[in-house]
Amino acid sequence: MEWKVDREADKPLYQQIFEYIEEKISYGEYPPGSLLPSERKLAQQLNVNRMTIAHVYDELQASGLVERKKGSGTRVSSHKWGILPKGVTNWRKYIEGGSFIPSYPLIRRIRGEAKVMEGGYNLASGKLSSDLFPTDYLQSILSEYTFPTDLGYEHPQGLLSLRETIASYVKTYHNIHTTSSSVLITSGAQQALHLITQCLLNPGDAVAIEAPSYFYSLPLFQSAGLRIFGLPVDSEGMNPDDIMTLYKKHKIRMIFLNPTYHSPTGAILSSTRRLQVLEIAAELGIPIVEDDPVSLLSFDNEQHSPIKSFDRNGNVLYVGSLSKVIGSSLRIGWLIGPQSVINRLADAREQIDFGLSVFPQIIANLLLQSSEYPKHLEFLRQELLERRNEMLSALQDLLGDKIEFTIPKGGFFIWCKLNKSVDDQKLVEAGIKHKILFMPGSVYGSPNGYVRLTFAHLKKESIRDAVSQFAEVLNQV
Ligand SMILES: Cc1ncc(COP(=O)(O)O)c(C=O)c1O
Repeated sequence: MEWKVDREADKPLYQQIFEYIEEKISYGEYPPGSLLPSERKLAQQLNVNRMTIAHVYDELQASGLVERKKGSGTRVSSHKWGILPKGVTNWRKYIEGGSFIPSYPLIRRIRGEAKVMEGGYNLASGKLSSDLFPTDYLQSILSEYTFPTDLGYEHPQGLLSLRETIASYVKTYHNIHTTSSSVLITSGAQQALHLITQCLLNPGDAVAIEAPSYFYSLPLFQSAGLRIFGLPVDSEGMNPDDIMTLYKKHKIRMIFLNPTYHSPTGAILSSTRRLQVLEIAAELGIPIVEDDPVSLLSFDNEQHSPIKSFDRNGNVLYVGSLSKVIGSSLRIGWLIGPQSVINRLADAREQIDFGLSVFPQIIANLLLQSSEYPKHLEFLRQELLERRNEMLSALQDLLGDKIEFTIPKGGFFIWCKLNKSVDDQKLVEAGIKHKILFMPGSVYGSPNGYVRLTFAHLKKESIRDAVSQFAEVLNQV
C-alpha cells in the first residue's frame, strides 16, 4: 500500500485512516458492496495496531459507510448515505456542523481505545474499580423495597424524598444548610454544569476556571459560546487576588471551582482562600459554581468545608454527585442554590426530558438513608488510601528520577510532571501501543509534559504492573 499514516501529524491515526478509506469509497475505488481488507491485514499494511483499525471500522459503520456481518467481513454499504452527492442527505456535514461541539479528539481517542482495549490498564478513567461498588448492600436494600405504583411524570426538580435526604446529607457531611426546594436532582454533576452554562450565561460571556482544570476538558463551555480564562493553581488552589485581576480585564460573569482534591492536580483550596474567594465574588456580584464530587474521600480524616457552607447570601451554586462515592452509572448529582435559580433550571429540565428517571433516585435515596452508607464511605476511603499508597510507592521505585508529583490527600488522582519534554499526542499513542491509558495534561489545559493517573480504577494488585508499563512507555518516547 502506497499511502502511509503520518505519525508526525496532529490528527490521530484512526482519523487519518478513516478519512483515507472514506475518500476511497467516495471516489468509487471501493464501490458499494465491495469487501474491505480484514482488520489484521490492514493493520499490517499500515503498520498500526489492530485495535486502531477496529476503531476505524467502528466509526465507518457508525457513519453508515460500511456494513459488518460476523463471518463475512466489512463491506462498503450499498447505500453510501454519508457521501452521495445528490438526492441523499450528507449527514456528516450536519454531524460536524451542530452547535454542540464534539469531545476533543485526544479524549475521544482515549475513550474509544478504553472501549476496545483487551487486557492492559486504564489509568485514565474517573470511574471506581468494580470491587469498590456497594453491590451487595444495594442488592439487599432493593430486595426489601416495594416499588411505587405511580410511574407518572415526577417533579422536574427530582423526587421530593431524595431532595429531603440530600438536604440532610449535605448538612451532616458538609455543614451546608438548605431545604428540599433549593435542591435540583441532576443526571450527575455533568448535567448541573450543562444546565448552568446553557441557562444562566450567554454566548460571549467570560468565565473563570482553574488552570489546569477538569472543566477545560468539557467542550460544553465552548458549545455555550463562553470565553474561558484560567486562574493558575498552586499547592493551596487558585489565588483569590487573580479573580480581581481577571475581572478588571474581562468582566468575568461566573467562577467555576473544584476546591477539594481538585481534578487534575489534587490541590485543596485553603480555608483562608475559600473565604477570600467568597468575599471577592460577593464584592463583584458574580456567582461561584462549586464542583465538589470527591471531598468525602479524604485520606487524613480532615474535612474541608465547602465554600457553600460559608455562603449566607446565596452566591454559591453547589454541585455534588454520587459518581465517585457510589457509582457513576447511577447518574445522580445535585445542584443547591437560590430557589429562583433552581426553578429556572428545573423548567429547562422539564423542557429537555421531563426530569430524571425515578428509579436511580429511589435507589440513591435508599442508599443514602441506610445505616450501611457511612460504613461504605469508610471502606472506600481505606481502599483508596491503600491504592494511592501502592501507586506512590510504584512511582517512586520505578520513575523516581523521571517524574515529580505531590501526594494527594484525597480523591482519585495523582498529578505527575514529567522531567523530560514530550508531546502529549505521541505519549498517548505510545501508551495505547503498550495498552496503557492515562490522561495527558493538555486535555486539562496544562502544557505538554503532565499526566493524570487514576489509582481508583485498578485493583491494588495491578497498580505496580500498570506503573511499570507506564514507565516503559516513558522510556520509549
Ligand atoms: C471534578 C469533576 N467534576 C464533575 C465530574 C462529573 O461527574 P458526574 O459523573 O457526577 O457527572 C467529574 C467526573 O469525573 C469530575 O472529575
